[in-house]
Amino acid sequence: MTSEFPHTPPRKSYTFSDAVNADIRRAAATGIYDIRGGGTKRFLPHFDDLLFLGASISRYPLEGYREKCATDVWLGTRFAKKPIHLDIPVTIAGMSFGALSGPAKEALGRGASEAGTSTTTGDGGMTEEERGHSKTLVYQYLPSRYGMNPDDLRRADAIEVVVGQGAKPGGGGMLLGQKISDRVAMMRNLPKGIDQRSACRHPDWTGPDDLEIKILEIREITDWEKPIYVKVGGARPYYDTALAVKAGADVVVLDGMQGGTAATQDVFIEHVGQPILACIPQAVKALQDLGMHRKVQLIVSGGIRSGADVAKAMALGADAVAIGTAALIALGDNDPELEAEYQKLGTTAGAYDDWHEGKDPAGITTQDPELYNRFDPVKGGRRLRNYLKVMTLEAQTIARACGKNHLHNLEPEDLCALTIEAAAMAGVPIAGTNWIPGRNGGF
Ligand SMILES: Cc1cc2nc3c(=O)[nH]c(=O)nc-3n(C[C@H](O)[C@H](O)[C@H](O)COP(=O)(O)O)c2cc1C
Repeated sequence: MTSEFPHTPPRKSYTFSDAVNADIRRAAATGIYDIRGGGTKRFLPHFDDLLFLGASISRYPLEGYREKCATDVWLGTRFAKKPIHLDIPVTIAGMSFGALSGPAKEALGRGASEAGTSTTTGDGGMTEEERGHSKTLVYQYLPSRYGMNPDDLRRADAIEVVVGQGAKPGGGGMLLGQKISDRVAMMRNLPKGIDQRSACRHPDWTGPDDLEIKILEIREITDWEKPIYVKVGGARPYYDTALAVKAGADVVVLDGMQGGTAATQDVFIEHVGQPILACIPQAVKALQDLGMHRKVQLIVSGGIRSGADVAKAMALGADAVAIGTAALIALGDNDPELEAEYQKLGTTAGAYDDWHEGKDPAGITTQDPELYNRFDPVKGGRRLRNYLKVMTLEAQTIARACGKNHLHNLEPEDLCALTIEAAAMAGVPIAGTNWIPGRNGGF
């Protein structure tokens, strides 16, 4: 019998949304967690929640076309005999050969070198494509030691000791069997076609004192010439930065939770770490407390997309930034022109993240020769160069409007926040007020 009262319209649960239910069904059907590439997809406080104030009467702007706004940066000035000098403060983050194809590595080297910046190797060793085309190449020294070779340490321009990544602080890398070609297997000294899970911590350290010894060893191997970076994920940035400085780092690389990865568990990407906005002020505070701000340089990453993001990161106290995902998009990753091919893989342009499967129609995150031979490294390099140039011009435009003749002169005082969360994390006042929530002397 039907009720005489009108029915409540069907309502879906916010807690058990369609997406959540789909995840539950996927888990129930497969019995394995979801692995994917890319960064977090949830909404997080980010650089978009900050604005520059600009100049008017109380501040004096610089003339856009006539007055200079410098963009160069020195990295590794603390101990290295040969610090690095880059024309722009946007560097290319470490992305492994294995995750990326050889031609993609070549394109990164070409684009970065033409724009006057550095590239970084990754979990998997140094390729000739990248060394040959990168004017300045940073060599990663990782927990896995895949592809680690003392001769390559000497061929690099700087060394980056990787402790962690923002997408998975406390976790190790993953490279699934589909991408372990003969060449990748040879470089990593592991069998072909078998899933690899890299170590989540360095096998020969149990704490910061061991990091100090490791840095000293690398300095000896490289004759104290090369800057030594230490890369950490955004876990506890105040203490991690302080300990990296104490261990002797020339440069701290701080990767927030928005940071991309080649492959890891979705639950890790979405639920571990702190947003980069929250990480930068903590790291800067650690450097200031040690009297090391600007003496040990800070490179930050995690969801950086535009010159505005670069300028905001620098205003918060970073010396430079690193980009991963955005560089891949500039090369042609997730391009709507390939929509028909993404559809065949059961996805759509802009959402493709199964990079671990090695079926990338753009030829970037694959080791399949049929796919990677589609990718033109010269054209890709040109696109990356153009993109880096635009980011730099955008950051300069903002800096000039704030009256700054160098990107490094941007400061927190140039910023305001749109939300309470962003204000509390970034340590800048909410627009229209002088209120910085949560600032009572500490974090
Ligand atoms: C395809 C891919 C591969 C990566 N491989 C490595 C790696 O081998 N070592 C590492 O330290 N970080 C790796 N990362 C993380 C990047 O170095 C960087 O921290 C991150 O991409 C920055 O965030 P963004 O992608 O939002 O710019 C990788 C990222 C991507 C997207």
